[in-house]
Amino acid sequence: MDKFVVRGGNPLVGTIRVSGAKNSALPCMAAAILTEDEVTLENIPQVRDIETERKLLASMGAEVELGYGRAQHRTTISCRNLSDPVAKYEIVKTMRASSLVLGPLIARCGMARVAMPGGCAIGGRPIDLHLKGLEKMGAVITQEHGYLEARASRLRGTELFFDKITVTGTEDLLMASVLAEGETVMENCAREPEVSDLAAMLIGMGAKIEGAGTPTIRVQGVEKLHGTRHRINPDRIEAGTFLIAGAITRGDLIVANCNPGHLGAVLEKLREAGATVEILNADSIRVRSDGPLQAADISTQEYPGFPTDMQAQYMALATQAEGVSRITENIFENRFMHVQELARMGANIAVDGRTATVRGRAQLSSAAVMCSDLRASASLVLAALVAEGESILDRVYHMDRGYERIEEKLRGVGAQIRRMGNVFGNG
Ligand code: EPZ
Repeated sequence: MDKFVVRGGNPLVGTIRVSGAKNSALPCMAAAILTEDEVTLENIPQVRDIETERKLLASMGAEVELGYGRAQHRTTISCRNLSDPVAKYEIVKTMRASSLVLGPLIARCGMARVAMPGGCAIGGRPIDLHLKGLEKMGAVITQEHGYLEARASRLRGTELFFDKITVTGTEDLLMASVLAEGETVMENCAREPEVSDLAAMLIGMGAKIEGAGTPTIRVQGVEKLHGTRHRINPDRIEAGTFLIAGAITRGDLIVANCNPGHLGAVLEKLREAGATVEILNADSIRVRSDGPLQAADISTQEYPGFPTDMQAQYMALATQAEGVSRITENIFENRFMHVQELARMGANIAVDGRTATVRGRAQLSSAAVMCSDLRASASLVLAALVAEGESILDRVYHMDRGYERIEEKLRGVGAQIRRMGNVFGNG
């Protein structure tokens, strides 16, 4: 398994580039199921979850080209012959976002067999709201031997209300509705930019969608969709992670190829914590911090609130702030896996239910630490960038799932970080 070796103390200076958003690319790749025509997606990030999605689509009979040449980062997908609309457990167990093929498979093929996605490190991650919506649209869903089997000759448009705001639930049902008979009105939808990105792609394929990015999405079902070429949004969580890296190391960092409009809550919190944040233009942000950082509380919310996917990274920053920061995680029930590892580096953090109380400023010292999930891993890298000495981060395959060549990108702006072990460890 690959490890990262990180020596702390260097301020990050220069320009670091953001890749395409994994959480946009995954639903958009699944949306290719909805047409027999070829679909091309650009700005695809070179991360493990995308490779997993490629394998998943190919296992169902799709032809998937995935290229990362200098100018590429592109995938071309043809789902003309979906001979086996089954998402097998061996793949689903490695990436629960595989459940995103459920809606499109039923819409296109009239049936789907999808292995029940297990939970993961951060929580149970049920998909009951996906299933409830599909059943309301006329799908008959049975569950046996760990697989869901869903059938519908043609889904019917209807009115849906999400009991809880769910990002992939909104995306799954959006993809189910675009070929359904009649109108579907979905209420209490997720407003994340990734939902809007998927909707933009579907509209480019001929879907009739209004209201993506708002709580109410209205869809008029159509008979068929055609192919498209679509460029994936920049990854707002990778951008936020790099902004915190610039602040925590007291650097002067330009984060390029990002969308400042997707980062409102994060930029506001960085300013409250004492960093200087400047939006340079439509796709780059400059972050500097030379004075002391100030404690500031966060409470994770659905978009446009402070993102749960930035909670662990912010906690690393909070360890360096003067004072007490209260961090409340409202979205997932077990998203404090990074706390114990940060504590091993000298952080002073107390957890009580959904709230972690961070007392700073703590002088972090290097340690051997364990990555547990994608964003907890990012938190440990950020802490190691300021810890005294050389830290070893184990199980970095968690990072490879959602961060493209992060050690190369960070080295490019002055970080002392290198990967040990075989490339893309068989983690
Ligand atoms: C998406 O997960 C993201 N993943 C997650 O990013 C992100 O943390 C999450 O949204 C919240 O923003 C992808 O987009 C691939 P939810 P998702 O459904 O859709 C509960 C990362 O680090 N819920 O919005 O699975 C659920 O348990 C990953 O990139 C139900 O109860 O999250 C959670 O408490 C991690 N029933 C809450 O809703 C359901 O049917 C929000 O979950 C669905 C969800």
